[in-house]
Amino acid sequence: MRIRDLPIDSPVLLAPMAGVTNRPFRVMARRHGCGLTATEMLSADFLVRQSPGEREVHRVVPEERPMALQIMGQDPAVMAEAARICEELGADVVDVNMGCPVKKVVARGAGAALLRDPARAAAVVEAMTRAVRVPVTAKIRAGWEDDRLSGPEVARRLEGAGAAAVAVHGRTREQQYRGSVNTGLIAEVKRAVSIPVVANGDVQRPADARRMLEATGADAVMIGRGAIGNLWIFRAAGAVVAGLPEPSRPTAEERLAEFRDHLDRLVAAEGEWTAIRRMRKFAPYYATGVAGARAFSAAVNRAETAEEVRRLAGALFRGEARGERAADVLGVTPGEVLAVAAVEKAAAAADLASRGE
Ligand SMILES: Cc1cc2nc3c(=O)[nH]c(=O)nc-3n(C[C@H](O)[C@H](O)[C@H](O)COP(=O)(O)O)c2cc1C
Repeated sequence: MRIRDLPIDSPVLLAPMAGVTNRPFRVMARRHGCGLTATEMLSADFLVRQSPGEREVHRVVPEERPMALQIMGQDPAVMAEAARICEELGADVVDVNMGCPVKKVVARGAGAALLRDPARAAAVVEAMTRAVRVPVTAKIRAGWEDDRLSGPEVARRLEGAGAAAVAVHGRTREQQYRGSVNTGLIAEVKRAVSIPVVANGDVQRPADARRMLEATGADAVMIGRGAIGNLWIFRAAGAVVAGLPEPSRPTAEERLAEFRDHLDRLVAAEGEWTAIRRMRKFAPYYATGVAGARAFSAAVNRAETAEEVRRLAGALFRGEARGERAADVLGVTPGEVLAVAAVEKAAAAADLASRGE
């Protein structure tokens, strides 16, 4: 796939997630075969107010590319200026957030509120495309209200305004994260435009990615929550989508190494205190399906040093390596363990989402 002339080497992309997809996460996702990484949303107002020195924290590094820098706002002039800044910082794509349902965002007409105002959404994209050479994309939802699905109309307007691609989370703003993803609506968006369409929502396993592409006719899928603590999904989903056999699940040792790598990168990027707090949110994801997952997450919540978190992870995954898998301990099949894990993940995601998008 290409986003205008930007080659994307895998149709499995990373969804932007506030509090999650910071630089360490993006670099790891790319290493795991993700086709395009995405930042958490950045307020355009904030970005234009920052001094050039302050903005350097957003400067793109080669290991996270190709990458989309996502901005949020509703004023075309400010969004155009913010897009120029993103391009200067090295973004390959500048993406507009048109899906955030949080009250303080939509109250000012940004995020999902743009779905109620297609003319403004188009004006924003048009101003941005005039301001930069890199492709401008948008991430939308199915619509604002459940009974008025404006997604296809908005996508058409955005294409007319110069958008190079559109990603669709197949839920409305009203649904937030509840209910099921409307794949029929994503298919309608695909039929409505000729730019690439990226389908998003509830891709938790490699096979979901293929089903999503088949159901929607989309050009790519975007994975959010399903990638947390499970970055292998990018390569595995890429294989399944290409009709290749699904690679085997990572071993306990590999998962342990990944957990520790994530922790180390976070410590290096933002210091031990912040890194530990972020890892507390990710711990239940990494521990999914492993015997002792709950106790592990609780212990990580109490840990105050990175060394302690490393040690706890060692105990958890080495237990699994000895065969103490939840499937064995609980006497259930791995499929059932995954089903239980999905419920636990959903609870953790709801918690994350209440702070983020
Ligand atoms: C914690 C969290 C933060 C999010 N932050 C953003 C964001 O900054 N920008 C955005 O466009 N979507 C954001 N989203 C929405 C995701 O990109 C995605 O559309 C949604 O989670 C559905 O995909 P999934 O089922 O693969 O997670 C966020 C979602 C979560 C769970």
